[in-house]
Amino acid sequence: MDRLTSSPRLMIVSDLDHTMVDHHDPENLSILRFNALWEAKYRHDSLLVFSTGRSPVLYKQLRKEKPMLTPDITIMSVGTEITYGNDMVPDEGWVEFLNQKWDKNIVSEETSKFSELTLQSETEQRQHKASFYVEKAKAQEVMKSLSERLVQRGLDVKIIYSGGMDLDILPQGAGKGQALAYLHKKLKEAGKLPKNTLACGDSGNDAELFTIPDVHGVMVKNAQEELLQWHAENAKNNPKIIHATERCAAGIIEAIGHFKLGPNISSRDVTDLSDAKLDHFDPAYEVVKFYLFFERWRRAEVKNAEVFLSNLKSVCSPSGVFVHPSGFEQSLHDCIDKLKDCCGDKKDKRYHIWVDQVFPLQVDSDTWIVKFKKWEQTGEEQQGCLTTVIVSSKGVKPTEGLTWAHVHQTWIDGTTQNTRNDWFF
Ligand code: GLC
Ligand code: MG
Repeated sequence: MDRLTSSPRLMIVSDLDHTMVDHHDPENLSILRFNALWEAKYRHDSLLVFSTGRSPVLYKQLRKEKPMLTPDITIMSVGTEITYGNDMVPDEGWVEFLNQKWDKNIVSEETSKFSELTLQSETEQRQHKASFYVEKAKAQEVMKSLSERLVQRGLDVKIIYSGGMDLDILPQGAGKGQALAYLHKKLKEAGKLPKNTLACGDSGNDAELFTIPDVHGVMVKNAQEELLQWHAENAKNNPKIIHATERCAAGIIEAIGHFKLGPNISSRDVTDLSDAKLDHFDPAYEVVKFYLFFERWRRAEVKNAEVFLSNLKSVCSPSGVFVHPSGFEQSLHDCIDKLKDCCGDKKDKRYHIWVDQVFPLQVDSDTWIVKFKKWEQTGEEQQGCLTTVIVSSKGVKPTEGLTWAHVHQTWIDGTTQNTRNDWFF
């Protein structure tokens, strides 16, 4: 949060499974559309918060499987764990707060008396969360009598049913909504209350997100019955909550447009990117666009290859250098000449490129250093590198785009290094 010096323009608080991440979309198109929009238009002055039921273990697993951006804040285990930044530093104040009227041993004792409850995996049992599976037909009754028993034992808990199968028991003060309210309070105290907040969800544990004051909400098209029912009973006439007509991340983009929260056109939705010109210099947008071009090039989706290559050359400085993550150096113009060899080499393959955490830093009146992570995925294989680009506006008009003067990459720790020599930019 410290990187922002004033109120974020937009804070998106999104659930992951079946909201940001569509498990029925093997191409991951809607999340990739969202990623391009976020990095080009929001990353620099807005906050991305993921709020998931998953424990840290399962959250990290999902990040390896899907093209997810890095959030500024991660709320895990149904609002019982809040962490900040890339290092995921835990919020100790939140942990202390949740200890009130909570005794996990009593929860274990009482739940063991219910044969209808099946314990979830060990990774999903957390300090402030006990999780089970229960059949839909039995859920309401079990929740009622369990709640009574726990009250009798002096606990103040919250029981949440999600996805038509998961039952979570948390301290009363926990949950995704309370975690969001806590963050709002903290941001307000720091003078950084977001100008707008958009909460996004699909299932029961997301309902509370929509009850926090001044929050816009989107239930994605594929929302679960339990969430739609909650909405019908509690928030039917609230114009700040919509049920999107689009699935998952596409529904989030739809909501940004519906509530007029800012730009809502992802570069991925623009077929001819060479026509997408701006009236001002925008390094983050240039980076997003460049890699999208490159993806399309390799997928054989670029028409008019000769024009494409000469355009690309014209935005690269003749003295510009590309330092490959292996350490090998080449002039940018030579790299572009080499691109002829890879045109369409990923045609009909599940191949995508996305950039994450694009942070431009203006170093003088016409130069920016842009840092970001660049990821490529072919089938199941995913590789990433930290990239630093120097771009310049010297001698060019905004409509011509910035000149690329230098590109430098290093492999991200843990990534499988590309040995096939087909890592071009
Ligand atoms: C995630 C968690 C699970 C929880 C469910 C609903 O799937 O892994 O423990 O019960 O979300 O909140
Ligand atoms: Mg979900």
